[in-house]
Amino acid sequence: MPSHQCFALHIKRKMIIYKHAFDVIAYLKKVEQTNTSTGFVPTMGALHKGHLSLLEKSKQVCDITVCSIFINPTQFNNTEDFKKYPVTLEQDIYTLEKNGCDMLFLPDVNEMYPQGTIAKKHFNLGYLETVLEGKYRPGHFQGVCQVVNRLLTIVSPTHLFMGQKDYQQCMVIKKLLALENFNVQLIICPTLREETGLAMSSRNLRLSDEQKKQASDIYKSLLNIKEKLKPGTLHFLKKEAEKYLINKNCIPDYIEIAEANSLKIINEWNGKDDLVILAAAFIGDVRLIDNILLKRQDSFYL
Ligand code: PAF
Repeated sequence: MPSHQCFALHIKRKMIIYKHAFDVIAYLKKVEQTNTSTGFVPTMGALHKGHLSLLEKSKQVCDITVCSIFINPTQFNNTEDFKKYPVTLEQDIYTLEKNGCDMLFLPDVNEMYPQGTIAKKHFNLGYLETVLEGKYRPGHFQGVCQVVNRLLTIVSPTHLFMGQKDYQQCMVIKKLLALENFNVQLIICPTLREETGLAMSSRNLRLSDEQKKQASDIYKSLLNIKEKLKPGTLHFLKKEAEKYLINKNCIPDYIEIAEANSLKIINEWNGKDDLVILAAAFIGDVRLIDNILLKRQDSFYL
């Protein structure tokens, strides 16, 4: 069968693509007369199965699903990281359409920041911004809040879908929703992993096959901690994990254990509190993050 016929068979419905906020607003106003829930999946593109699981969840829960692709300059504290962020736009559009996204919002920087990218507003994120990603990527979460705040104002979804891989980002967004009084339900979907355990991430596209194998050691280091975790001091476990990563040529920014509900870093565990183990490490010049959540069945933090 010629390839164009396969293409036609796969795409069952049309996805609308808008570049301007006023078109998104007008379209949603119209469709919301007959649809009651709008799910929103914000992304920076270079889509992988993790993103698609968010889309899938949104389609299960909501009448309409909107995705956005925008590589937000204000959340990059490192210009090289911004310049090298993977772009696979054509493939992304095809994938979103094929997987039943109703609308793609594809703004440019002027559309997102009509008054320029210098922040006009400060989001009071408190402690959350002082640790882990907040500490190692100064300004990162202000940039995330800036863009998500604007996206939510445009799309005004009923549900927002985000991935647990960015655990701290999920907590920040939860805080943003409260700070800005958004009436949006945040739904966190589990991290998807490659067979090796490597958490799916757009930045993985920047890794060679060899580096991908190496990067799976980040997850292994988290699992090592999980296996050996017991009440008492945690100092030795963290140090051991750090050494393990360095030996594997993954250079950690941090490997930490924190209370799952507050992200308070702990050095001593009482054996009861739910925990999250988080790591950020460099493979070459690519910085990756990952986490695992250790919680009782009934608790729900994010
Ligand atoms: O997680 C991401 O891809 C980005 O931080 C987000 C939420 C799309 C904001 O730019």
